[in-house]
Amino acid sequence: MRLDIAVLSGDGIGPEVTAQAIKALEAIAHSFDHVFTFKEGLIGATAIDKTGNPLPDKTLELCVDTDAILFGTIGDPRYDQDPTAKIKPDQGLLRLRKELGLFANIRPVKAYKALADKSPLKKEIIEGTDIVIYRELTSSTYFEEKELNEQETVPSDVYEYKQKEVEHIVHLAFKAAQKRRKKLTLVDKANVLESSRLWRRVVTEIAKTYTDVTIDFLYIEDAAVQIILNPSRFDVILTENMFGDIISDEASVISGSIDLLVSASIGDVCCMFEPIHGSYPRIAKKGIANPIAAILSAAMLLEHFNLTEEANAINNAVEKAIELNLTTPDLNIINPLTTEKVGDFIYDYILNPEDSNMNFENIHVGLSTII
Ligand code: IPM
Ligand code: MN
Repeated sequence: MRLDIAVLSGDGIGPEVTAQAIKALEAIAHSFDHVFTFKEGLIGATAIDKTGNPLPDKTLELCVDTDAILFGTIGDPRYDQDPTAKIKPDQGLLRLRKELGLFANIRPVKAYKALADKSPLKKEIIEGTDIVIYRELTSSTYFEEKELNEQETVPSDVYEYKQKEVEHIVHLAFKAAQKRRKKLTLVDKANVLESSRLWRRVVTEIAKTYTDVTIDFLYIEDAAVQIILNPSRFDVILTENMFGDIISDEASVISGSIDLLVSASIGDVCCMFEPIHGSYPRIAKKGIANPIAAILSAAMLLEHFNLTEEANAINNAVEKAIELNLTTPDLNIINPLTTEKVGDFIYDYILNPEDSNMNFENIHVGLSTII
């Protein structure tokens, strides 16, 4: 297969972790005989610094014209912590989502056995957690009208959903549930919000065409509690934009590190894959950033194009790295590897998964004294 991939590595640790994701894709291209091309574009604070615009036209053109986007991270305290700043890195990401119609944001959350003791939750609670969150991404408060009166004392953000916007993602979430454990939970605030009542109506109606999927409804506050008390009760969580933003960050603590979580943003013609963690400018260029979420986002990209075996090759390599503790200092304090070395191990493991001997770990990270 040939895939043209736009690379928007962004700010902070974005470039160094995205470089490892590209390396993993290069290993896949090599092993499975695919052709992947990579073209870089500016976004976020880096783009503001160079062009004055967090999403330059050139970047948007590149993205419109590509099969998939590999996204790094954005954010820089110079803009983010200045309430008077009119131009902010986030605006680039939000506009990109809207312009490309990336209406569904998909965030899988699972518990890795080898990292069970890193989670702040008890092992027996997180065991077996395997959730995928479907978050609506291009509507409602994020994008509706915003107003501020002259005295700046009465701000207003319109919270509105149109039936069409809801239907679009509801179908995707049902299809995902059919391929999984066939359970869909709609998270909303239907006791208060009119728009939540619309979501319930739409889900109930559409459920009639997916009779093999069981549905249930939870208020957002109850869902927030259940994610901590009983995460394995969930299969597919479906929710609106803002609730999805919050609940997916909350769920990320289950896996022991937000640095392991990825997200896919899907539209009718375009798709984008990214780690959910931030740009951590304080640790940028120190070689300590965890590249695993970025690498896993490359696996999600492959899965999207039905390259399941290839996606599994990356997932297996990542699981091996975690199992052997070949990880960055956030997960391995005693004997950490650098960002690049973790990427090297995963690259090598994809190319030689069968390779094993007593010095296996060292060989794969180029430290071996045997070779
Ligand atoms: C995310 C982020 C964004 C969001 C920000 C950067 C605007 O938190 O992708 O979850 O709120 O959607
Ligand atoms: Mn978020």
